[in-house]
Amino acid sequence: MPKKRILTGDRPTGPLHLGHLVGSVANRARLQDEYETFVIIADIQTLTTHHDHPELLRQNVLNVAMDNLASGVDPNKSTLFIQSLVPQIAELTIIYSNLVTVQQLSHNPTIKTEAAQYNFGESMPYGFLGYPVSQAADITFCRAHLVPVGEDQAPHIEQTRKIVRKFNALYGEVLVEPEGMLAPKLVGLDGNTKMSKSLGNAIFLSDPPEEVKRKVNSALTDKARIHPTDKGHPEVCVVFAYHRAFNADAVPDIEERCRAGTIGCVPCKKLLVEALNQLLEPIRSRRAAYEKDPSLVWEILKAGTARAREEGAATMALVRQAMRINYLDL
Ligand code: TRP
Repeated sequence: MPKKRILTGDRPTGPLHLGHLVGSVANRARLQDEYETFVIIADIQTLTTHHDHPELLRQNVLNVAMDNLASGVDPNKSTLFIQSLVPQIAELTIIYSNLVTVQQLSHNPTIKTEAAQYNFGESMPYGFLGYPVSQAADITFCRAHLVPVGEDQAPHIEQTRKIVRKFNALYGEVLVEPEGMLAPKLVGLDGNTKMSKSLGNAIFLSDPPEEVKRKVNSALTDKARIHPTDKGHPEVCVVFAYHRAFNADAVPDIEERCRAGTIGCVPCKKLLVEALNQLLEPIRSRRAAYEKDPSLVWEILKAGTARAREEGAATMALVRQAMRINYLDL
């Protein structure tokens, strides 16, 4: 039996942060032996919100690639590739755009949240409204079975499944209907429900130890707690949420002592800084090797992208055949 496939990935808007790690990156590294894994660096999707600065993509493609490799995505096991260099994804996007309604796209809750965040108002770009269609092409061009992502991506997976069902019913069973593997999102340092670079509330995988310390010290805690002996409410505390996500072994003890007022926020934050720096240290040192020689990273991306294009060509041939638009043998 051939292995089942994973397709997942990120927008190159900057370096990856802890939210990406818990949302998807840790899962892709963990599952790459069991699944044939494709990791997309979605530069074209980044243009749907940042079309005025394409010159930033180059550095951020490199950042995202380095963060993936540093987090354990192994280029000998996984295919790491650049979206804009796989033309079949663009071709599929156009074909799929007829299988979706504007109505469906405008009701997509993640599109709504992001549109508000970017303040599009009456001038929402067509490409932004349509990016879930392009994401469906990202997922299906290699006929992926599983998509490990953060839970805010669930509407996009649902949209992809709808497109696949419609395509297969209309033209023939060519596409694979993917399943999502959803991870809860990570709160931001400021208590916002999502850690995000654009909200300025993120700890980056590449942050040096002192920066991690500075950021954790700035994190929102239980506002009702003035003195270290006050009884705390871990459920409203960002630092506690991070202990849960990254320092699970210590959680029962910290929770009990916070509620009892026998651990203050200062030592509690110190424990978190230690745990995070321990988690990030091997990621930092692997990243440093790639930073020293970015040509290694471009080589990995070149090989991965070539592999993705082969997969794209195979899927497009099936799609053309199913749609009876394989007129010429070119
Ligand atoms: N929309 C995803 C995000 O913002 C990134 C992404 C693009 C993606 N294409 C994808 C994720 C395909 C999973 C599968 O994080």
